[in-house]
Amino acid sequence: MKDRIAVGLIGFGTVGSGVAKVLTTNAGVIRQRLGVPLALVKVADLDLTTDRGITLPPGILTANAREVINNPAIDIVIELIGGYDPAKRFLLEAMAQGKHVVTANKALLAVHGEELFEAATRAGVDIGFEASVCGGVPVLRALTEGLAANRLLSLYGIVNGTSNYILTKMTEAGRPFDEVLKEAQKAGYAEADPTFDVQGIDAAHKLAILMNLAFGTPVNFKDVYVEGITSIAPLDIAYATEFGYTIKLLAIAKLHEGEKSGRAPAELEARVHPTMIASDSPIARVGGAYNAIQVTGDAVGDIMLYGKGAGSFPTASAVVSDVIDIARNILKGTVRRVPPCAFQPDQRRPLRIRPIAEISSLYYLRFMVLDRPGVLSQLSGVLGKHDISISSVLQRGRKEGQTVPVVLTTHMAVERNVQAALREIAALPFVSAPTTLIRIEGEDR
Ligand code: NDP
Ligand code: HSE
Repeated sequence: MKDRIAVGLIGFGTVGSGVAKVLTTNAGVIRQRLGVPLALVKVADLDLTTDRGITLPPGILTANAREVINNPAIDIVIELIGGYDPAKRFLLEAMAQGKHVVTANKALLAVHGEELFEAATRAGVDIGFEASVCGGVPVLRALTEGLAANRLLSLYGIVNGTSNYILTKMTEAGRPFDEVLKEAQKAGYAEADPTFDVQGIDAAHKLAILMNLAFGTPVNFKDVYVEGITSIAPLDIAYATEFGYTIKLLAIAKLHEGEKSGRAPAELEARVHPTMIASDSPIARVGGAYNAIQVTGDAVGDIMLYGKGAGSFPTASAVVSDVIDIARNILKGTVRRVPPCAFQPDQRRPLRIRPIAEISSLYYLRFMVLDRPGVLSQLSGVLGKHDISISSVLQRGRKEGQTVPVVLTTHMAVERNVQAALREIAALPFVSAPTTLIRIEGEDR
């Protein structure tokens, strides 16, 4: 029996330094749980001068990642540099040498996950990636183990801390987008390229990983429909409040069973976009950099997971939990006790992802139109022609001859019809700006 498990770390930035601190500060409790210590024996980072808030023993820090990958003493390699290359190469090389790996790199997993999972199978090693989705919230372990008895039906939630932080500050304090984004970057929540956060790409990466585990299907993030939060205007936030809604960037996945005959295969919805949800719903109340996911399973019903979705220590918590999990396998002389994608590799099957045009939803539409008689009836005429039924309308004040917002919400409608109606409306002479469309999740009321 080994008397310690040796760990090597590549990437000593926000998350990497958090991992080193958690391994040091919580060494006692980790040993109590694992039975032997986790020893951080090598740490690689290109930048050896920045103060990371922790002093490593001499000889541990190196600028050369290969000193981690090729170190025969190391059992588990943690990749925390982010990006595609060389992160993928490092992971493949480490696995080819028989090392187990842990990563928080959702961008890499969402695009090259299949290649990495196959490499892990080939090498007979474990690959952990709990930290890649929702930072410190153990949602992947919940899908893989806690909910293993269920056929999972849907999941939706807030999976990007940065955009939730921005929307929360814009909604609660009326603060400008750019100023709040800078704050999120300073706090270490944002990706190296923050457009990943605000354009919904990071959330789409995470949704692809979640769906992979929840539904036993390989999902490439390119099949996920994505809209970010950059065009959310304070005006829409104010109208949402009036309608009793809060705007959140939601990641949504739904399983549509096949026809009742059971012959048609199941299909999935996979989308990330700003969404209005009832302000009194639990997800609407999730503020700041917190994440929350609601999962529905056929046996368990609805469950919700909530916690810090970004930041040094919460993410380190998830990384180290993977290391402990793998270390337990090593100590028991076993490997891959739990399949990395929750389903046995030969039981995963590709499911069709429905294009956005095929989904049905409730909609919030804000038209910018010249205020003159007959406008509303023409708008509702076009919507009616496309089988879209109006649920409520709001036009405040009168400014005859000037541009005013006319806001309405719809009953359940098919996206393809809504887009066709908006194209027709855009050509009407009294329409002075593109229409804002925000989907609404919830009951048709
Ligand atoms: P940082 O940019 O803070 O840290 C990355 C570190 O890796 C930097 O110090 C960087 O050095 C170093 N690095 C880059 N290339 C190499 C290389 N070839 N060899 C050695 N070191 C290298 O990123 P984060 O810690 O924020 O993120 C790390 C990963 O964790 C990413 O995949 C991210 O998506 C993921 N993640 C981050 C979360 C967060 O809250 N920050 C939450 C969940 C996941 P240099 O700066 O000199 O380039
Ligand atoms: N940039 C990511 C976020 C980090 O804001 O959620 C956590 O994955």
